[in-house]
Amino acid sequence: MAGHRDAFDDPSTIDVTDLHRSPIGAIEAMNIAALLSREAGDAVSIGRTRGLGRVATKSSVTDLVTEWDRTAESLIRARLAVLRPEDGFTGEEGRSDPSSSGITWVVDPIDGTTNFAYGLPGYTVSVAACDAIGSLAGAVFVPASRELFVAARGHGAWLAGRSLRCSSQSDLAVSLIGTGFSYEASVRTVQFDLVASHAASIRDIRRMGAASFDLCSVAAGRLDAYFERGLHPWDYAAGMLIASESGAIVTDFTGGPVTGDEVLASAPGIHRSMVTLLQGGRK
Ligand code: IPD
Repeated sequence: MAGHRDAFDDPSTIDVTDLHRSPIGAIEAMNIAALLSREAGDAVSIGRTRGLGRVATKSSVTDLVTEWDRTAESLIRARLAVLRPEDGFTGEEGRSDPSSSGITWVVDPIDGTTNFAYGLPGYTVSVAACDAIGSLAGAVFVPASRELFVAARGHGAWLAGRSLRCSSQSDLAVSLIGTGFSYEASVRTVQFDLVASHAASIRDIRRMGAASFDLCSVAAGRLDAYFERGLHPWDYAAGMLIASESGAIVTDFTGGPVTGDEVLASAPGIHRSMVTLLQGGRK
């Protein structure tokens, strides 16, 4: 288990000469995810200081995409094409490439684009390697704090060399809960109503603006739970693994496996209460 340490120190020291072979192990995949998320994160945070560049909208007028989202995705795609040419690629901003190795990289080049565009610190670069079971490895890099969250399936999750453990909270009434909201106005109205109807049942709500960071915050015990509907795989592929490897329970809103756009990541002690809450009942 020495491999995971490489990712924390200096990613440029990772020996990538033999990483193109298939199949890849979880730790090797995690090291690649760490390397690429940090490289892309540095590129966009340094680039941002020179200017935001062109900003466009996607699914609605509230859904932004910047020049730096596309630059970061191209950078990660180009690196993977050399390191892992047989692997597939799915990114938020471009075309998907099929996999012939069984591994597909799922990438959000800037998660929290709205924060990035407004000069707020809460954005990340999220990189996951997925196989037929789900996420095999992942890394979430937060340029503003230089925190690098990593996980390898079956091995654990780490931040700065320390193993991550989710919170031991068992009382929903004193739990700090994260969530996020859709770019679609009609969906957002329903989401706000849900939060309003349960505001009195919990300690407080946080909306930080990057799903990957919310999931890492559950892993680090900074949030007791996080839930959101309307997510895409690139928003949660890395963070979901980091949360589950920290001991959090990660499901959809019914308590079943995540197969669509709903993610609930929770300290085990409040998971049942969270499912009840999300199903519309009071704890
Ligand atoms: C968004 C962020 C946000 C969440 C949205 C996501 P993006 O990702 O993760 O926190 O509420 O659902 O789409 O668009 O910034 O990559």
